[in-house]
Amino acid sequence: MPPKQDRLLRIGVLGCGPIAQAAHFESCTKARNATLYAICDVADDLRDRMAATHAPARSYADYAAMLADPDLEAVIIATSDAFHVPAARMALAAGKHVLCEKPLATSVEEAESLRGVAGRLVLQVGHMKRYDAGLQAAKAFAETEMDAMVALKAWYCDSTHRYPMTDAVQPLMVTSSQARKPAENPKADLDRYYMLAHGSHLVDTARFFGGEIEAVSARLLNRAGIRTWFVDVTFANGVLGHLDLTVAVRMDWHEGFQIYGENGSILAKTYNPWYYKTSEVDIFHESDGTTRRVLGADGHFYRRQVEGFADTVLTGQRTGGADLEDGIASVRAMVAIAQSARNRGETVRLADVTGPL
Ligand SMILES: NC(=O)c1ccc[n+]([C@@H]2O[C@H](COP(=O)([O-])OP(=O)(O)OC[C@H]3O[C@@H](n4cnc5c(N)ncnc54)[C@H](O)[C@@H]3O)[C@@H](O)[C@H]2O)c1
Repeated sequence: MPPKQDRLLRIGVLGCGPIAQAAHFESCTKARNATLYAICDVADDLRDRMAATHAPARSYADYAAMLADPDLEAVIIATSDAFHVPAARMALAAGKHVLCEKPLATSVEEAESLRGVAGRLVLQVGHMKRYDAGLQAAKAFAETEMDAMVALKAWYCDSTHRYPMTDAVQPLMVTSSQARKPAENPKADLDRYYMLAHGSHLVDTARFFGGEIEAVSARLLNRAGIRTWFVDVTFANGVLGHLDLTVAVRMDWHEGFQIYGENGSILAKTYNPWYYKTSEVDIFHESDGTTRRVLGADGHFYRRQVEGFADTVLTGQRTGGADLEDGIASVRAMVAIAQSARNRGETVRLADVTGPL
């Protein structure tokens, strides 16, 4: 591991659930420029167990009390989607920087309510794939050598075999009956849940490369227990786009994208994130007829995301993380896709959508 820097961003993690246990506690502990200063959860048994394992300096049952700690500098919001915006609002009001898990919000209005709240504080959204070295290499090529982008296809297909895969590599999850859950079960409506949980990653990847999405036309087929959304995307810059969100394919995890450009093409295969394996991204350079692929030995996107966030807070440097406007645009895109799918593929402009997913 790279050595710890002298100046470490003191981060508090809100929520000791699965994503904190699998990603954020370790990421803060390993990050070269951050420290796991505090953890917070209403569930006493869970919080005490996590405090014993990860040894933060402080452990809080009450979020307001954590935010009142003058030594705390930033918060990672690792709670259910429904709590993201209220928790972000409280942290910003207390003067703390925020890295909020994705999706930023579950409605357009909720997401947009954060505009103007952050002031000089950093607010990022946890689209951690932006810190995959393969995607970063593709982005660098797309912005320099490739010139005009013509077409982008991206796919995110969860696998029926994902749990044996993740159980094999993640820590054994600790649960608690005291954990705070939203009033409405997020999995009560699976069309909505899959879009928020998985579609958010797909949309962000599309936007990361293709830029702003202007309109979508989506069809959803739910057959044999498989949901497939096929989405025609109109990017503001005229690039032709197509997205495929499928939950769940009867095969291995299947995620990636391809891009055709004026002076080259990109073909990417992304792994289930819990393998911490950098995407295999083949970049074809038209100039010399060669294909190159970055190894990306460090595939810990979650730790790299924390380091990027901390760099932005500590040095003001922009590291490519998703910001508030990215988070809002992503919510708009998901709402538009859901609306279009309900109306048999009618074209929906993102600027026109309102309401929840
Ligand atoms: N980026 C990724 O790859 C990825 C992967 C999985 C989950 N996620 C996201 O992570 C988020 C959290 O997922 P999870 O499954 O860990 O959630 P969870 O609901 O299982 O756990 C959240 C924990 O936060 C605690 N909590 C909630 N509100 C609190 C409050 N106000 N004060 C104190 N404690 C509070 C709960 O008690 C609970 O223990 C979701 O938004 C999800 O979309 C992201």
